[in-house]
Amino acid sequence: MTTANSVPTIQLGDELTVSAIGFGAMALTPVYGEVDDSESLATLHRCLDVGVTFIDTANVYGGGNNERLIAKLLDDRRDEVTLATKFGIVGNPADRESGGQLNARGDAAYVRQSIDESLQRLQTDVVDLYYMHRRDVKVPIEETVGAMAELVTAGKVRHLGLSEVTAEELRAAVAVHPIAAVQSEWSIWSRDVEASVVPAAAELRVGFVPYSPLGRGFLTGTVRSAADLSSTDFRRTMPRFSEGALDANLAVVEVVKAVAEQQGATPAQVALAWLRHRAEQFGVGSAPIPGTRRASRVEENLGSLSVELTPEQLDTLDAAAAAVTGQRFTDLTWVSAGRE
Ligand SMILES: NC(=O)c1ccc[n+]([C@@H]2O[C@H](COP(=O)([O-])OP(=O)(O)OC[C@H]3O[C@@H](n4cnc5c(N)ncnc54)[C@H](OP(=O)(O)O)[C@@H]3O)[C@@H](O)[C@H]2O)c1
Repeated sequence: MTTANSVPTIQLGDELTVSAIGFGAMALTPVYGEVDDSESLATLHRCLDVGVTFIDTANVYGGGNNERLIAKLLDDRRDEVTLATKFGIVGNPADRESGGQLNARGDAAYVRQSIDESLQRLQTDVVDLYYMHRRDVKVPIEETVGAMAELVTAGKVRHLGLSEVTAEELRAAVAVHPIAAVQSEWSIWSRDVEASVVPAAAELRVGFVPYSPLGRGFLTGTVRSAADLSSTDFRRTMPRFSEGALDANLAVVEVVKAVAEQQGATPAQVALAWLRHRAEQFGVGSAPIPGTRRASRVEENLGSLSVELTPEQLDTLDAAAAAVTGQRFTDLTWVSAGRE
């Protein structure tokens, strides 16, 4: 299948069809540097114009401002968008640098309150895919997913998703209600989900939405040193972007760039094509959600769908992950890898 603009579609779970490449809107509110709302809105419109219709946001991005920005896109184009948002992180990622803490919340009352707040900010009646953003380990996942299921019955949400869950948590959730997608970090330099989460998703016929598929921009070769990151850039808080680790990790970027040269493609396209091939190998329906502030990069990233990597290139890229220095997060219990 293809969208109206000839972008192929992918099925997540049994019933949710999305453009094979989506768009992650997180960095349209300040996370990786400054933003310009009119440029961001133009980028969002370009997504729809070229057939990238699977748009991802969250209640926590920009303290709600990200959803408010998406509302401007939805204003006269709601029908063109497969809209995904999330609840479950309390705090603001951008405040981490100044010591602000993030916590997870998954109690039923919070789930019910969060969807109403998101619908209000998004100025829409229904969200197509509603994710639990982080697991609140103080609350049984059955309670959280049970409350999410009630939102489907109430017509506020069409499909359910879970971010950064373990395989075991995914199995417990699926026993309560069908899950369309797991959204977790997956890229050439973040492959921990391949051990059990991706195989479990494939087995349970749950889709997989790789987030930060460009390694938060690093795999594109545009971050060469800490000096490339502004003082408020969220990546400064991440072990892989710390001074020593960042230098060591440039070796991974060199591998991606070498394959890109062989292909006549860009590093971003190679990083996304690698994910498509890996998802096919695992037999899991998958649509990555790269983010960018620039409209031109939407088309560049979409172009990855025509990049076919050779088995040798896939092996080379697979091996590059072994050279990565530094964890994804300082506290790994914040993601699935730390709870498995
Ligand atoms: N569920 C979760 O916990 C979670 C966590 C993180 C992210 N996410 C989702 O995943 C989405 C994507 O992740 P992400 O934004 O962290 O990382 P990403 O998509 O891996 O990388 C984004 C960065 O790459 C740069 N970029 C994009 N396309 C490029 C290209 N073709 N060439 C060179 N640079 C390029 C962007 O810079 P410019 O803006 O300058 O182009 C941006 O800084 C987010 O927007 C969010 O929706 C979810």
